[in-house]
Order: sequence, then C-alpha cells, then structure tokens
Amino acid sequence: MKTIIPDFDRPVHRQSTDAVKYDARASMFGSDTVQPLWVADMDLPVPLFLQDALVKRIQHPCYGYTMQSKVLKEAVQWWMGEEHECRINAEEILFSPSVVTTMCNGISACTGKGEGVALFSPVYERFYSSILNQKRKLINIPLLLDKGRYTINFAAFEQACRVGKIKMVLFCNPQNPSGRVWSAEELSELVRICRKYEIFLLADEIHSDIIYPPNNHTSMLAIDGAEKWTILAHSIGKTFNCSGLQPSFVLIPDHRLRRRFYKVTDKTHTGDISIPAKTAIQTLFSKEGQQYKKALIHYLAGNRDFLSERIARMRQLSMMLPESTFLAWLDFRETGLAHDAIRRKLVDAAGLGLSDGLAYGPAGEGWFRLNFAVARTELEKAVKKLEMTFG
Ligand SMILES: Cc1ncc(COP(=O)(O)O)c(C=O)c1O
Repeated sequence: MKTIIPDFDRPVHRQSTDAVKYDARASMFGSDTVQPLWVADMDLPVPLFLQDALVKRIQHPCYGYTMQSKVLKEAVQWWMGEEHECRINAEEILFSPSVVTTMCNGISACTGKGEGVALFSPVYERFYSSILNQKRKLINIPLLLDKGRYTINFAAFEQACRVGKIKMVLFCNPQNPSGRVWSAEELSELVRICRKYEIFLLADEIHSDIIYPPNNHTSMLAIDGAEKWTILAHSIGKTFNCSGLQPSFVLIPDHRLRRRFYKVTDKTHTGDISIPAKTAIQTLFSKEGQQYKKALIHYLAGNRDFLSERIARMRQLSMMLPESTFLAWLDFRETGLAHDAIRRKLVDAAGLGLSDGLAYGPAGEGWFRLNFAVARTELEKAVKKLEMTFG
C-alpha cells in the first residue's frame, strides 16, 4: 500500500517547474506571491508506480510513432466498466490530447458555422471559447439556483430546442465550477429532449472519477437512448494529476457519429496519443489506480469538509458543497462589494489567487472558485487568509 499511496500531507513544491498554476501568477494576478488556488490541477503527487512506469518506458531509447494498442484500449474498457458501469467496444474508443480538443472537434463534426450550440451556465470557460472561436451561435441556458444547489431549467432548454435554435449541447457531467453531480433522472430528461429534437450531446466527464459519497456519478452513456447522439470526453488529467501529459480519450458508440468525428480529427491530426500519455493510461487504469483514487478521494473529502466547516463560520462567505471535483464555488455576494473589489481584496489583502467567477459566465458575478487539492497545511493557511480578510 505504501508504494501506491503517496504522502498527500507533504507539500509539493511546483514553483519554477513551468507549472501554469505557479509560474503564470504574475500575468494572471499581477503578483507572483499569491497562494495559487486556481487552475484545476492538484498540488498532490501522482503515485510512485506511475513515475516508475514512465521512467521505465523513457529508458527505452526510441520515442517514435506509437500505436493505439489493444492493451491501451482494454485498459480504458476495464476502467469504464469497473468505475462507470459503461460497457464499450474497442472500436468505439478514440484518443485525444485533451478534452477541450475533443470539444472543438465535436463542435466541428456536428455543427456548421452559425448553428446553435448550447451550454448550461455557469460553466468551465472553455465551453464558451470552443463555441465562439468556431463561429457557432452560443445559446446560454442559465442553471437555476435552488436552495444553494444548481438545477437545470429544462423548460427553457426545451423551449430553445422547440424554436429550432440548437444543434448541439455541451454538458459538464459532473459540473465545474459547482461540483454538482447530476442524477440519472436529470440526465434522462436531458437525453429525452435531445432525442426529440435530434440534438448532439458532448458529455464532458473529465471530473467523473472524483465523486464524494454518498453521491454517484451516472455516465451519459449509461442513459437509455443516449448512444446515438453522444460524444463522451474523458481523461486521466484530473483524477491522476496528469493534464500536462495530454492524456485524453473519447467514446462514441454510434458508428455514423464516430465517422463524422473521425473525419475532423483526421483532418486536424488530433487523434493520436503520445507515448507518456499511453503509458500513464495503461498504468493507472488498474487495481493500483483504483486504490490510489480511493485514497485521493478520502483525502480530498477531508479537505472539502474542513473548508466547508470553516467557511460556514464566516459571516460574509458561503460555499456550495461540491459533490464531486476538488473545486469549491465560493459566494462572496454577502460582502456587499463589487466583483472587482472582491478580486482586488483577494489578491492584495488576502494574498490568494482564486479563479474568477466571471470566467464561468455572468452568473459567476460575486463568486470565486477555490481549488482545494493541496496539502492540508496549505489549505489551513488559505482559510486563515480568508478569515482575516472576509471573516
Ligand atoms: C470541465 C472541464 N473540462 C475540460 C477541462 C480541460 O481538460 P483538458 O486539459 O483535457 O482539455 C477542464 C479543466 O479544468 C474542466 O474543468
């Protein structure tokens, strides 16, 4: 067990490793000393058995073109079956450098210029740029805030579909920035509407492996009737802190949709996988990977609960309890300050670099996102800074 689970309590020093989270602070916050709790990667170490596997492969002196082997596909099939009750055939699996690449390619495969692509906001900022950069029409269906929890406005969504505006939906399952885990009933309703109006679905399930009990993730592909319309994007990037390896994969059960998607990746040469990404997927989608994931969720749940308890004691702040992800969506609206003033106070007075809520859409006004995938002592420091500044 010792070789599988690293010491999450020991802070990892990432400064000067070209880590965006640390080394882009000056351009992001105007200060290179803020405690960085923004970009969604972890300051927690990967398992040693992954490092060993990567070193072993790198010791072979040829790094030429590599195949999407049977072993690689079997690893994905095994993980998706074990962890997500999602049975897929080998030919339904494709590879991609990143989920955002898949999102862009999916939009290109399913829609034409000027056609409507919907999202439910607030949501991860690249949902917006993927649509707008390709000159599609962005249809924003705001989530409803109901007793501190987001829900989908199905009436508004169906109305937009009825008037024929929507050709495709980008759906974050589970949700970033709130960490909301969608129920099977909610997903079924979404799929029902998509099927009725013949709308393609891009299910971004990058956060689906980090789920806090008693919540359960339902994969879009586990919903009856979703196969014909769905492109599912996943990755080991978040769960195993490997985003820099560009280790993403795509599941498309429907052969016609897969062909459409494949045509785009073939044109853009974005359907290959690198040797380190392949090695990492094969190594991590294993029993050892499952044990690491279990221990990681346990550690993150402790961080989440610690943060939530301390925020609950503060007069001016509140937090949406994430059901998944290592991201906490913090509500600063009770401070009575304008959004810009909160941002300045976070940087100048608290010395904290959080993700700006407005990046997730207009509903993020007065909100900031805190990444709590750090050693507990680092989180304690951050909480003290919040208490001193906003307590
Ligand atoms: C919901 C969501 N999708 C996609 C990404 C980016 O994934 P990738 O690096 O694989 O493009 C992120 C990163 O924060 C994310 O939160």
